[in-house]
Amino acid sequence: MTQKQVEQHEHKMTVAQALRTAIIAELEAINLYEELASQIEDEGIRRVFLDIAREEKTHVGEFLHLLLQVDPEQARELERGRQEVKEILGE
Ligand SMILES: [Fe+2]
Repeated sequence: MTQKQVEQHEHKMTVAQALRTAIIAELEAINLYEELASQIEDEGIRRVFLDIAREEKTHVGEFLHLLLQVDPEQARELERGRQEVKEILGE
């Protein structure tokens, strides 16, 4: 069995799966803080929520950087998606 198959057999997450889960959590956090910011009257607190939302985008970048290193297929498909959209939009 490959290492990945062993981990899946043992119900252990692969590094790629852990990173995808982390990215999902960071993206959810961005939406949460933006939503909270939109509901808050206090300008100072709203700015704090929006600043934290921005920091979560940095965290997405950190985890995405790692994911693209451990999942070359994802790196290829990310670029393919970028090219396809550019083609559709005529960019
Ligand atoms: Fe975060």
